[in-house]
Amino acid sequence: MDGNGRWAQARGKPRHAGHRAGVETVRRVIETCGKRGVRVLTLFAFSSENWQRPETEVKMLMELFFTALNREIRRLQKQNVRLRIIGDVSAFSQKLQQLIREGEQLTADNDGLVLQIAANYGGRWDITQAARNLARQVKAGILQPEEIDESVFARQLSFSDQPDPDLFIRTGGEKRISNFMLWQCAYTELYFTDVLWPDFDDQALEAAFEDFSGRQRRFGRVSAQVEG
Ligand code: FPP
Repeated sequence: MDGNGRWAQARGKPRHAGHRAGVETVRRVIETCGKRGVRVLTLFAFSSENWQRPETEVKMLMELFFTALNREIRRLQKQNVRLRIIGDVSAFSQKLQQLIREGEQLTADNDGLVLQIAANYGGRWDITQAARNLARQVKAGILQPEEIDESVFARQLSFSDQPDPDLFIRTGGEKRISNFMLWQCAYTELYFTDVLWPDFDDQALEAAFEDFSGRQRRFGRVSAQVEG
């Protein structure tokens, strides 16, 4: 969800106005994805590296996260959305952690769209914590190093109960993954758009789906194998 700051600056507004406008886009995208039958939507709201931003911006983002979550939980419940927050939430305030637990519990049985919000998340953090868990199991003698294969490793990662993403969308013009779902995006189709996140409307989302539908997904095979 890149481009909030630039969206605000282009309007002579402070950066936080861009983040606030970004929350409106979040609400719209959740609604549209629910209607379009998307099964899982994962939003990168705050990376492990975002703590390095100016203290005032970090504080503002934390407050915004709290107020948006507090306001939207009931709407998510009505829309049959199951909410999950992925990342090291222990760094957040007790108040925010409590709200996250409440939101996840309230929506746990919903069987519509799964909404995953990555917060204080980083792909390298995820891989590192998986490796640490496996090392602990080996040390405790409950796992042999030879038993560690891709599926054993993947089970230790965040998002392990969901399929790998089909489509990765980055708004705001940068063409990089920025430490997002590094393991899980191995065969994900990447889509980059110059549209800034607050301007990412239904038309922009449809353009991404349209582009995706024209891709041939080979997963390492050759065209003839997947066409048959
Ligand atoms: C990147 O834009 C955006 C963020 C770091 C924050 C994203 C957060 C929200 C949209 C609001 C909270 C989300 C939820 C799910 C309630 P940027 O600031 O890097 O933009 P720039 O590159 O133009 O400076």
